[in-house]
Amino acid sequence: MSDIRLVNLTKTYGEGNAVSEINLNIGEGEFFSLLGPSGCGKSTTLRMVAGFIKPSSGRILIGSDDVTGLPPEKRDIGIVFQNYAIFPHMNVAENIAFGLKLRKRGREEIARRVTEALKQVGLAGYGERYQRQLSGGEQQRVALARVLVTEPRILLLDEPLSALDKGLREEMKFWIKDLQKKLGITTVYVTHDQDEALTMSDRIGVMQKSRIIQIGTPQEIYERPKTLFVTSFIGHSNILDVTVRGRHGDDVTVDLAGRELRARAADGVAPGGAAKLVVRPENVLLGGAVGERDMRLDATVLSETYQGAIVRYRLQVGAQEIVAERQNQAHVERFAPGTVVTIGWDPEWSEALVA
Ligand SMILES: Nc1ncnc2c1ncn2[C@@H]1O[C@H](COP(=O)(O)OP(=O)(O)OP(=O)(O)O)[C@@H](O)[C@H]1O
Ligand SMILES: [Mg+2]
Repeated sequence: MSDIRLVNLTKTYGEGNAVSEINLNIGEGEFFSLLGPSGCGKSTTLRMVAGFIKPSSGRILIGSDDVTGLPPEKRDIGIVFQNYAIFPHMNVAENIAFGLKLRKRGREEIARRVTEALKQVGLAGYGERYQRQLSGGEQQRVALARVLVTEPRILLLDEPLSALDKGLREEMKFWIKDLQKKLGITTVYVTHDQDEALTMSDRIGVMQKSRIIQIGTPQEIYERPKTLFVTSFIGHSNILDVTVRGRHGDDVTVDLAGRELRARAADGVAPGGAAKLVVRPENVLLGGAVGERDMRLDATVLSETYQGAIVRYRLQVGAQEIVAERQNQAHVERFAPGTVVTIGWDPEWSEALVA
């Protein structure tokens, strides 16, 4: 059963759409991320779900209830914003109690639930502290506790980690995901950070220019991007110019520098035309690592860069450059610049996309 349903959700400002015809079902307990570059409409979508922005058209359902016309406080939703500073004139316990006081809960219940919430976010004993006595990560935990204490049906998070430094962000993303799973609370998470989306989400909706252009699990989004935009937004890829020779169901044969290669094909890739062949650097094999059933090419090594955990090669094939990354393991074969090597990849790990 889906917990949140967006039906043709659209928001227009003046001439343009901030959000265009979003259709989405988010399951109960699911961690769903909206991922996309700045200005693509992530926050507008989230704020419509929360009730802070009125849609121009379309509907929002929570469970079986149409909440499109309901004010935020009637939607049973908790929302945490990017710079959701906690109230500086209140201590942590008072901050967390705030929503419960608004809801006119009794003093004992408030005290009990504040203690519980502090424990939930790993800040037991921090109730008396003030904002200035907390690190950025601790403040963000308080912000989360303040929302969770009201036991909302749905949790909305808008770039909650972007104000934190890298180390803390790493730590917090695992922490938030663990907490979310433990509570089983349906969550929509907005981010422009692909690592966060890949690490935390059950599913990701990639947004581009007001639309969701692909929905899938992190694995599907990373391994089977449907468009060049999704490919280049998520991770690094070799994006090679090829000519399509033939199509057989979900496979195509393409011509790359005079070699016929097999690849998976996205919708719209048709024989006779140009296409882009996408292969991730970690899937480009070198030398003895190329298997019998892999696609094979001769390449000239342009450079070898030692990066600690990986070794990165720039290779030339015809007029094009291909990047390969290898795990720097014991006994790994190395290739000197200037040498010609066999490179290759499993055709299942290469994808032809519309150019
Ligand atoms: N109140 C408004 N009036 C006019 N245009 C707006 C308004 N709010 C947002 N927009 C426009 O709608 C588009 C989407 O904005 P939104 O804030 O949803 O983007 P976002 O994906 O959250 O971006 P970011 O990653 O920078 O936060 C942008 O082009 C923005 O300029
Ligand atoms: Mg935003």
